[in-house]
Parts: sequence; C-alpha cells; structure tokens
Amino acid sequence: MELNPDFLEREEGEDLVLFNGKNRATLLLPAPKARGYRELKEGRPHDLSPSDIEMLSRYGVISTTGLFPSFPRRSLAAKLQDAHYLYDRYTKQYYSHKAPLGVLWSVTQRCNLRCPYCHASASSKNYAELPINELITVADKLLTAHPFEIVLNGGEPLLRRDIFQLIEHLRSTNVLLSINTNGTLIDASTAQRLAHLSMIVGVSIDGPDEEVNRLTRGKRVLKQTIGGIRVLVAAGVTTHVLTTITRHNFARIPDIVRLTKSLGVSVQTLQDLHPAGFGKAVYDSLRLTPEQEDAVLPLLEGLAEEFPDMTINTTELSYFAYQPIAERHAPKHKKPLNLFQCTACTETLYIDAAGNLYPCVALPDFAMGNLLTDDFSSCWDRSLAARTVRAASRLPVTTIDACRECDRNYICTGGCRGDAIAVYDDWFALHPRCPRRRIGAQDRTIASEA
Ligand SMILES: C[S@@+](CC[C@H](N)C(=O)[O-])C[C@H]1O[C@@H](n2cnc3c(N)ncnc32)[C@H](O)[C@@H]1O
Ligand code: SF4
Ligand code: SF4
Repeated sequence: MELNPDFLEREEGEDLVLFNGKNRATLLLPAPKARGYRELKEGRPHDLSPSDIEMLSRYGVISTTGLFPSFPRRSLAAKLQDAHYLYDRYTKQYYSHKAPLGVLWSVTQRCNLRCPYCHASASSKNYAELPINELITVADKLLTAHPFEIVLNGGEPLLRRDIFQLIEHLRSTNVLLSINTNGTLIDASTAQRLAHLSMIVGVSIDGPDEEVNRLTRGKRVLKQTIGGIRVLVAAGVTTHVLTTITRHNFARIPDIVRLTKSLGVSVQTLQDLHPAGFGKAVYDSLRLTPEQEDAVLPLLEGLAEEFPDMTINTTELSYFAYQPIAERHAPKHKKPLNLFQCTACTETLYIDAAGNLYPCVALPDFAMGNLLTDDFSSCWDRSLAARTVRAASRLPVTTIDACRECDRNYICTGGCRGDAIAVYDDWFALHPRCPRRRIGAQDRTIASEA
C-alpha cells in the first residue's frame, strides 16, 4: 500500500483532515478512522474496514499499485449533468474546522487601478499598510493554525516592494500559495521570480476587449494585463484568469473565455459580484438584469460545450440558476435546509490589510479580531462574530419569511447572507437575486413596511 505524497495532513483534535495540494480535494477522517489511517501509514495492524480502504483509494490517498490518478477537476459539463453533484454541493452541511482550510489575505489596500466594485475599497490613495515585520507577525500567527492554502490579495499585492519577502517567508512552509493581481505590474523578471517560488497566479480580466474591460477595470488596462499574462505563461507560471461578472460583460463571457484560452491559460474563474466595499454603492447598476439572471444556466451550458478542456470555476454565480438541476436529485422528505451553508468561518477566512479577520469578504461587519493583537483561536473559535455566523448556519432557511412558503426551500439555503445584509441591512432578508422576488416575494423589512 502506498501513500499519495500530494496529501497534506492536519490534526483537528483526534480527527485528521487530508488536503490534496494538487486538486484541493479534502477528506475529513473522524477519530477512529484517523487512528486506523495512521496505523496503516506506519505499517502496523489497523482496523480500517474494506469500505474505508475503498474510500481512501477512491480519493487517491492510498494506492496498491503505486500509481495515483491525476484527478483533473470535474469539468463544468460533467457537473451540469450531475444532479446528484449539484444537490450535494449546494446543500452541503459544512464541518466547522478548527482552522480554515484556505485564507484570502489582503496585504495592501493600495492599488494602481480603481475598479468601481472593489470589495477591498482599493485605490491609489496612500493608505497606511502594515510594515513587513507586522505582516510576518500576522503570517506566523496564521501559520500556527496550519491552513492548507493562502491567497495573497489586495489591493494590488505586487505594489508592495516587500511582497517577495513575505512570499519567501511563507514558502518556508508547505502551504499552497497563490497571488491575485490585476496583471499590470508583471514584467519578465517578476514572472521569473513568481515561477521560481512556485506561485499560482490569478489575473483579473473583465472584458475580451478594451471597450468592455475599461467599464470596470479602467482605460487601457487590458493591454497591460494581457502583457502580464503572456510573460507569466512564458515563464511557466500556473496562471488562471479571474472575471467578475456584471451586466456589462455578461454577454461577452464566452469571448473572455476564448481570450483566456488563446493566451494559453486553461483555468477561468467566474466570480459573482458582491455588494461589499465600493461594490455596495454600484451593486444596483452593475448586477445582472433579470433577463441575464435567467440566462446564467444556458451561458454555463454553452461554456461547458465550447470549452470541454478548460477548468471553468463558477462560484455562487449560478446558485439560484442551478436549482432546476438540483431539484432532480432532491430527497422526497422535502425538509427545509439550513441558512448559511457557505464556507465562511468553517473552511475559509478573510484577512484585511490591517490584519483584521472576517469570515469572508462579503461579511465586513463581522470582524473576528486582529492577528497583531489577538491569537488565532481567540478570533476563529471564540469571537462573537465567528460564533454568530456559525449559530446562524443552524437556523432553517424558513427563518426568512418569504422562504417559508417557497416550494424550493428544501434545495435552497437562501443565498449569500452577506449580500442580503449589505443590501437590506437584515440577516433574514430574502436574497437580492432570489428569482421569487420577481413574482412578488419580498424580504421581511420591505414587507412589514408596506
Ligand atoms: C480585490 S482583487 C485584488 C487583487 C488584484 N488587484 C485584482 O484585481 O485581481 C481580487 C479579485 O476580486 C474581484 N472583486 C473585487 N471586488 C469584488 C466584488 N465586489 N465582488 C466580487 N468580486 C470582486 C476582482 O475582480 C479580482 O478578480
Ligand atoms: S479589484 Fe483589484 S485592481 Fe481593481 S481596484 Fe480592487 S484591488 Fe485594484
Ligand atoms: S424564496 Fe428564494 S431564497 Fe427562499 S428558498 Fe425560495 S428560492 Fe430560495
């Protein structure tokens, strides 16, 4: 029996979390299985059942042949055809890990661009930022929690002259490291350094041409961004393209994916617009129109057909759009699901440029503490914000008035609560994108004021 070296391990009490650094698959082994797994690893007699062994083999953790499947991520087409997958994915009950699996860390609020929706409210303003020694303090406290993945974000992280100092410090551990950038500051030597440090780089593009890209990312930015992607690809850096979907670029998404592919990049992430930071003020003017909302699923089906070889990541972009597919696998009992079934505070964490911790970028009112002054577990385990978000995830979706009567409440968790709080200032408001709004369902605040 051989063990897959791509799996990283983290103990959580007596449980064990396994994380595949190649495909980010995670597996939680509860205490008795974790014990058996350790015994197996050490070549001692173990009490794992044949089905446990089968499960570990299926996930590629162990192998009798010494060969481990390369586990490409599931294609978008395969996901869209699999009602079972969609049901499970969107109705998942998250396990509250002792620490996040992945962390998004804004290392500066400064930016050379000024995107109108920026959730970090970044701009060229001379924001104070943590000096490198304090960033390292934050990093070291974070590393005590053993996250598997850290994504350096901003602002524009490459504006920091000392960014490579931080990256090199983080590199001394085996955490998976990425950086998100607008791509305008990457020349060949920066690309070489990123390649040398095995960084995964996400570069943002919002339009396939200047006319569309400039609407959110600014004039004459696209050319520079494309130049940055070209040198990254030439240096052999694992690169992916990030696109925030708005009403301006919705019709041009296939063209953006074509551009991504033509640049030699095979991973495209499509991000939902959140009304956070600057995004709050422009949400109504940039969010998808009702017609576009109805066209999300056909768009994804078209992308799946045209780009079978690309990895297209869609986050909650398709949350409501997927429901007709998820319905096909729903259980007969039709029990309402729980609210807040997202990864915030269970698997993921956001750190802002001042070192403050939040469950997610979409929950800026829920500061959990600051890593310059607090230790990690007082933020993650004991802060009021973390406990509140986790407690809310145990409430049924029918806590939202309009969802009580909805015939989809057994396949719907009510959508992102951060969006609802930002737009309606109400934890239990109906999500701004719920399709039932259009047939008269209203959130509690509006209904009671009417
Ligand atoms: C905050 S930026 C920071 C890194 C870098 N400056 C960049 O633009 O990629 C990271 C990503 O977040 C996306 N983003 C910013 N504000 C957002 C919002 N309100 N909703 C959804 N995505 C957003 C950006 O489009 C970008 O792809
Ligand atoms: S989204 Fe990125 S490029 Fe745009 S203003 Fe924010 S930090 Fe800068
Ligand atoms: S009313 Fe909207 S948010 Fe509530 S359960 Fe139905 S579809 Fe989901």
